[in-house]
Amino acid sequence: MTELVQILRDKRDLPDKGLVELLETDNQSLVEELKECARETAIESFGKEVFLRGLIEWSNVCRNDCLYCGIRCSNANIQRYTLTREQILSCCELAYSSGIRTFVLQGGENPSSAQNLVPVVAEIHASWPDSAITLSLGELPFDLYEKLRIAGADRYLLRHETANPVHYAMLHPITMGQGTRLKCLYQLRELCYQTGMGMMVGSPFQKTEYLVEDIRLIQMFRPEMIGIGPFIPHKDTKFADFPAGSAELTMRLYSILRLMLPKANIPSTTALSSILPDGRIKGILAGANVIMPNFTPPQYRDAYSLYEGKSADPLEEVQKELSAEGYFTRPNRGDYNN
Ligand code: 5AD
Repeated sequence: MTELVQILRDKRDLPDKGLVELLETDNQSLVEELKECARETAIESFGKEVFLRGLIEWSNVCRNDCLYCGIRCSNANIQRYTLTREQILSCCELAYSSGIRTFVLQGGENPSSAQNLVPVVAEIHASWPDSAITLSLGELPFDLYEKLRIAGADRYLLRHETANPVHYAMLHPITMGQGTRLKCLYQLRELCYQTGMGMMVGSPFQKTEYLVEDIRLIQMFRPEMIGIGPFIPHKDTKFADFPAGSAELTMRLYSILRLMLPKANIPSTTALSSILPDGRIKGILAGANVIMPNFTPPQYRDAYSLYEGKSADPLEEVQKELSAEGYFTRPNRGDYNN
């Protein structure tokens, strides 16, 4: 095995120079080794089981204006919606009967509507007590994070988007600061949420050294979940004409982070499968261990367009691909297990 991959596996770390080399190399056999080693490490942690999460995109109303995002508040070209309690519960019902034991409620950042989710989370928790609830609702006040946690939410995803503060400022309006994002992540941890962070790969102005900063931030925070996907341009944003991020580089990051944090829950993201036809399974073969099929009612899916060409990761398709590679799923919460 190449020394770089071996050191990364054994020490769960590499100096910056080694990380840059793994991210930038043209040496395909080195990249294959990296992926294989990460795949073996995932199998040591999880066997050949892949955890499923049922994604419910509950609202595309957002107060933020992130320059890359299709549901940014200044985009007047989309129909805004928020699912009702009844709609959310019926999504859960459908997901549960398909064998899903984690519901992910994701939406734009909108604290006043998020407040309305407190009783809904409690109801989901009471109705399906053997299932986990993950939230992904952006930056909220501490007391709301706390209420949602008490109501029964187990996990929270809040991507840091980029670890470099200057880069963060280039991707976000002046009203958003990286400090707030990081403060929220620490609050979530304090509330004992299983916490997820992550970044886009190939977002405008990104450099390899910023990705190394992302890796270092993740290494320091040691999140239970890591969400990473390629940037994909959206026509109604400032970044419409920027190229999409690389699927290949995204997968290398899954591999590197798998070797650094063997037990972390790392999804093979929808964004990856949106730009690479067999991206879902390739992500798993590069060390990811989670897939998130979409359970949003079909009539709202187009309106939840973070980026263009978004895949739905339909469950049957996912299961077929996985079993062809010897992987399996089962009704399982798939909690982080140290
Ligand atoms: N391309 C890829 N990912 C995006 N996200 C938002 N807009 C885009 C885009 N254009 C991701 C961000 C955010 C998550 C909900 O979706 O990382 O945290």
